[in-house]
Parts: sequence; C-alpha cells; structure tokens
Amino acid sequence: MKYQNIQRQDPEIYGFLQQESVRQKDGLELIPSENYTSPAVMEAMGSILTNKYSEGYAKRRYYGGNEFIDDIEMLAIARAKKLFGVAHANVQPYSGSPANLAVYMATCQPGDVVLGLNLPDGGHLTHGWKVSATGVFYKTFGYHVKDDGRVDFDELRQLARQHKPKLIWCGATAYVYQIEYEQFAEIADEVGAFLAADIAHVAGLIVAGAHPTPAHYAHIITTTTHKTLRGPRGGMIMVTDKGAQKDPLLAERIDKAIFPGLQGGPHDHQTAAIAIALQEAAAEGFKDYGRQIVKNAQALAESLAKHGLKLVSGGTENHLLLLDLVPLLGPGGGVFAQEALEAAGMTTNKNTIPKDPASPFYPSGVRLGSPALTTRGFKEAEMRQVGDWIARALEQIKSYRLPEKKEERAAYINKFKVEIKNNLRLKEIRGEIKDLCKNFPVPGIE
Ligand SMILES: Cc1ncc(COP(=O)(O)O)c(C=O)c1O
Repeated sequence: MKYQNIQRQDPEIYGFLQQESVRQKDGLELIPSENYTSPAVMEAMGSILTNKYSEGYAKRRYYGGNEFIDDIEMLAIARAKKLFGVAHANVQPYSGSPANLAVYMATCQPGDVVLGLNLPDGGHLTHGWKVSATGVFYKTFGYHVKDDGRVDFDELRQLARQHKPKLIWCGATAYVYQIEYEQFAEIADEVGAFLAADIAHVAGLIVAGAHPTPAHYAHIITTTTHKTLRGPRGGMIMVTDKGAQKDPLLAERIDKAIFPGLQGGPHDHQTAAIAIALQEAAAEGFKDYGRQIVKNAQALAESLAKHGLKLVSGGTENHLLLLDLVPLLGPGGGVFAQEALEAAGMTTNKNTIPKDPASPFYPSGVRLGSPALTTRGFKEAEMRQVGDWIARALEQIKSYRLPEKKEERAAYINKFKVEIKNNLRLKEIRGEIKDLCKNFPVPGIE
C-alpha cells in the first residue's frame, strides 16, 4: 500500500492524498502544462536527498558533506547539456519563474528595457507583465499576436528599433504555432539584445524532435522541467554556444544570478529527479511520446472543429489548443467552460484568447493540451472521443452569459456552479470518462 507512513501519522493529509489520487485516476487531465512523472522521478523527489543543504555549486559549496550531491548535480548538468546541445546548464532554479527572473538579473540592470509577448496574447507573467516582479523592476514592453494568432514581427521589430532592449523573450504559455526562433534572432541580433527562449511548454517536444530547437538562435534558454519534459517540478537555464560567444561571462552571470542572487540552497532531491527525467527524455521511446503528443493535440483539434467549435488559429502545431468561446458563450465565458468540463471529469484552464474582449480574470477561452493524456497512453481515437465529450459538455451551458455588471458576476457564477453540479448530462459524461480511464492507468497510482 502507498503512503502508509502518512496514513499512520497524519490521517488528514492522507485523506486528501487519497481524494487527489482518485481525481487524477478517474478524470482527464487536459491542462497543457501538466503531466505525470515516472515512478523513478517520484522516488527521487521523496528521497533522503531532501535532507541536505548545499548552497553553491559542485566543488564550491558553503556546506560540508556534498561529495555525492556534487556527483548528482554534475550528472544532471552533463545530461542537460547533451540533450539540448548547449554550452552551459544550471539545474538549480526552483521552478520556471525564478529561472526567468535570474535571466533578467544576469543580463540587465533594474530599469533596463525588455520585450516579451503580452500576457493576454499568450505570454507568461515573467516575460514582463505588469504585476510580475519582472514588470515592476524592468521597463517592459509587450508585443502582440496578429488576428491569425501569430506573433506580429513588424510590431516587434519596430519596438526593438525604438526602445533598444537589453533582452527579448520568445516562447509562450498559450501559443499554438511552432516558435519562429529565426525571426526573433534576426531582430535581437539587429539591435544587439540578448534573446532568451523560454521553452517551458515545448521542451519535451524539442528533445523528441517534434518541435524546432532554439539552440542555434537564442543566447539563453530557460525551461521548466515538469511540463512536456515530464520531470519533477523545477527549472533550468542554459547558455547556448551563440550566447557564450556574445558574452564569454554569460554562464558565470547566470550562475551568480541564481546563487547568491536569487536563491539559497538548491533542492537536491529535485536535482536528482531532473537528472532522471533527462535520462528518460534521451531514451528512444521519448521521441515517440513527443510526436504522439502533437498527433493527439491535432486529433483533438479536428474533433472539436467537427463539432463546430472555434479554435484560435484553427488548430495547433504543438501540444495545446485554445478554444475561442465567444461564439458559444459570449465574452468572458471561459469560467463557465472550465467549471462545466470539470463537473464532467475534464480538467482544463480558462485562458485569454488573442484580442480577448473580456479580461485575464474572466477570459473568453479555454486552454487544452495533450501531454498528460499521451503519457496515459491515449492515441488519436481516444482524443477524438475526448473532443466529443467536450462538445457535449459545452452544449449544456450555452445559455449562460457573464453579466456585464461586475458586481453581479460572483452571485451569477455561484448559481451556475450549483446548477451544473446537478446536471445529469454532465454526470453521465463523467461516468463514461471514468470507464475509459480504467484502461489507461496513471503512473504512480494503483
Ligand atoms: C512559458 C512559461 N514560462 C515559465 C513558467 C513558470 O513556471 P513555474 O510555474 O514553474 O514558475 C510557465 C508556467 O506556466 C510557462 O508557461
């Protein structure tokens, strides 16, 4: 039996763990940034390595007893460098956000100009959005996507020429095309800016050969390790050969920005788990996994389109899709879709769409992704079935509209939640999903 020590010692936490296990097992995980790690990765995360302190870097620690921790970290670094074809890797960032903040620290002074994709257009908070530390401490300008959902490179070029940024971010949190690294590099090189590629979402696709690599175009690459890469929660920063040529001290600056700049001791259990995940990602089978993620996302897109649902850009070139719900639910309908899909056993997240007529808190879209279901073994046929379920669930809520008056929204949404909880059609879908899930186990859950 799993977690028996927790069960004995802390029944409350044990109870929640059990409930979460059932939720993960019986439902469909469609959040594009989530995945299921292997049992080996999970073992490392729960290992005795969590007991150690090791501020500093291998062979240069501020604490004793780091002989084996050094070996683990050096192995993780060697695997990262080989897998991504880069000159330098730092595997200590606690997660993606601190990794990105460290890039600012390494390349800019507070107040310097930075360009990143606007958040409602698909960019991440840490690419300079106003409420993020990155938008508070640096002078950030957001570039946008055009009507077809692609980055507006004319606007980006004009912003770069006008503001002479120190740093330009490419990469996104909700972008359905392959990232156009070459075009970004052309603009960054013209104005002498560092180009940082945030591949958090597509790292696994890159190593599988299902998405292009930024290694020849960007100076710096950041990633989370827990999305398509299928590792533990964590982050990495890499310096490419091009980055090392532009600034021979860049690797050192990145390392100093992480420690002592932003963080204290690295999470050694996480480092070991990252090393294991990198080994898994280098294995031949991972290529099939990465390619299947894309095929599955495309099968889901086709199924949704067949049901008359509108997708931003009409489809996807990677692992995620964005449903534009304006035709079905009007502006700000993402919240209804997320809740109804959840009631039907499908976990998604409401998200802005390009030129969203509502707001980031009440966005008009829903983001869907295939990485987690692909890990469970779903293929195109099952993804088409998921598309049918999504269409059936959304059909149940098409009469709901977000009230225009802000003060009426909370009460309306609460009433909506009660109504969908009792919706028999949604319960029926939930049952069908549970039945299918029995044939597709979640790694780590019996
Ligand atoms: C593109 C991108 N970068 C960075 C991050 C931040 O990662 P974390 O949540 O691990 O801080 C995310 C998370 O969603 C992301 O999508």
